[in-house]
Amino acid sequence: MALYAIGDLHLSLTVNKPMDIFGSGWSDHVRRLEEAFSCLDPEDVTVLCGDTSWGIDLNESLEDFRFIDRLPGRKIILKGNHDYWWNTAAKMKRFFTDCGIKTIDILHNNCYFYGDYALCGTRGWFYEEEQTGHNEKILNREVLRLEASLKAAGERPVLAFLHYPPLYTGYRCPEIIRKLEEHHVRHCYYGHLHGPTHRRAVEGVVGQVGYSLVSADYLGFVPKKILE
Ligand SMILES: [Fe+2]
Ligand SMILES: [Fe+2]
Repeated sequence: MALYAIGDLHLSLTVNKPMDIFGSGWSDHVRRLEEAFSCLDPEDVTVLCGDTSWGIDLNESLEDFRFIDRLPGRKIILKGNHDYWWNTAAKMKRFFTDCGIKTIDILHNNCYFYGDYALCGTRGWFYEEEQTGHNEKILNREVLRLEASLKAAGERPVLAFLHYPPLYTGYRCPEIIRKLEEHHVRHCYYGHLHGPTHRRAVEGVVGQVGYSLVSADYLGFVPKKILE
């Protein structure tokens, strides 16, 4: 049994969205993911760190969910900025049940346990992208979601999973970092960064928290093993 993380699968089995906007490194990425996942066992758990499907609603993402469901092991998914299909947890759960999808769980204002660890997370916040609209309102909502998830962990050591990077070279999101540190998060896994931005990724301990980028193209479409 092992715990893995990977973000940004960017599946589009129904809508056929070209992935070359992220560069030539994405060629044949669905087959590469399938091949990498074939090494996992049914009892393994993988956290998918957002930007899972290009579908604009649950029905348009169904083939992507079916693809994920066929991959070995249990998957825990959280929201990315491109997950337009995202809905209330109740609606997503009902949709999965109605469609016979059995291996996908939703990380949203809650947490899951893996051995002694709590797996917490939310989409997060990205100052560089969210320039318009109710910035503060959305930021506060994300901080509250992260807090709700971290509180659900109780006294267990926490691994956090976010879509947006809380920091990278030349960038910090202090509100999110503060929450991670307050709750003594051991390690934070994040996605969202693609192609040339990989070189700005932070890998390693900053302050009290360890950070790792797990976007799929950064990992060569092979899930990162976190715990045995
Ligand atoms: Fe993203
Ligand atoms: Fe992405």
